[in-house]
Amino acid sequence: MSLFASDKNLAMELVRGTEAAVMASGRWMGRNNKNEVDRSAVEAMRYMLNTVDMDGTIVIGEGEKDEAPMLANGEKLGTGNGPEIDIAVDPIDGTRLMAMGLGGAISVVAAAERGSMFSPENLFYFQKIATGPDAADFIDIDAPVHVNIRRVARAKNKSIDDITVIMLNRPRNEAIREEVCKTGARIRLISDGDVAGALSTCWNDGATADLLLGSGGSPEAVITACALKCLGGGMQCKPYFRNEEDEENAKARGMDKHTVLELNDLVKSDNVFFAATGASDGDLLKGISYQGAHMHTWSLCMRSRSGTVRYIEAIHSPKKLSQLGSAISYGPTHQG
Ligand code: FBP
Repeated sequence: MSLFASDKNLAMELVRGTEAAVMASGRWMGRNNKNEVDRSAVEAMRYMLNTVDMDGTIVIGEGEKDEAPMLANGEKLGTGNGPEIDIAVDPIDGTRLMAMGLGGAISVVAAAERGSMFSPENLFYFQKIATGPDAADFIDIDAPVHVNIRRVARAKNKSIDDITVIMLNRPRNEAIREEVCKTGARIRLISDGDVAGALSTCWNDGATADLLLGSGGSPEAVITACALKCLGGGMQCKPYFRNEEDEENAKARGMDKHTVLELNDLVKSDNVFFAATGASDGDLLKGISYQGAHMHTWSLCMRSRSGTVRYIEAIHSPKKLSQLGSAISYGPTHQG
């Protein structure tokens, strides 16, 4: 069944997958165990997404990077009944943040009709530029940093020194950081989590940034593109090469360091669904909290075709969920 034949808002169901991932991994926060954070989130997300009526195939899985447990590329998700879709998952974007007890980790899932998501495969990093709706039409990854900053400032009616550029704090991004410094714009360095970083450019009230620059994971780029489609933001990417092997991998796909991927190359469909749940407290979403017998989660749920953006605050009862037959485990010490 085509996704267009059905008018259901899949994001409303996907969000149960991100909530489940966060509930399962929440008690691993700060225990310095990245693998358990990932494993618990992956298993819970897989369990929950397999209950959704869809014929899903994972195009963007996670875990290759650090050999963590993962929802692998090509894996089928859903009951098999329902729309044929591509799925991108990052059960925890910011696994290290979660393991170290730091803020800003989120769980994310995106979906779009079959064949519409770019599959990065062995392209490891992308150079990224992303911004919210106001300046979406004015960014150009081929233009110098100062030009992009000036254009974003003009589009947002701000002075350059009131512009905040958000970027991953990595040695490979140092040259760009220096370029930003020269413009007088503010810089917000994040240690992980550039999906949430890019989304922080999309809100005018209380937005923490105006422009995302620098290189980060290519799977995260496609997930970000899905979210930005829902929010009307803009993004462009180029392959970023660490070594000759990366360059060869890109060449085999007809790409080189000049290849620009526009938002529509990253995700072609105009019917994109996105869900995210806060794992640890961040600017985008509050992290999971625990109150008596309940768990409290905060999520974002969006659909590009309708343009609806929902915040979902949920109170969960793990005890009742277990009685309903849920196989999700809620952490190392939880007794149900
Ligand atoms: P995971 O937690 O999913 O592994 O990703 C965290 C992250 O910071 C992404 O948000 C970002 O795109 C990528 O890692 C950057 O990769 P690296 O840490 O190798 O620079």
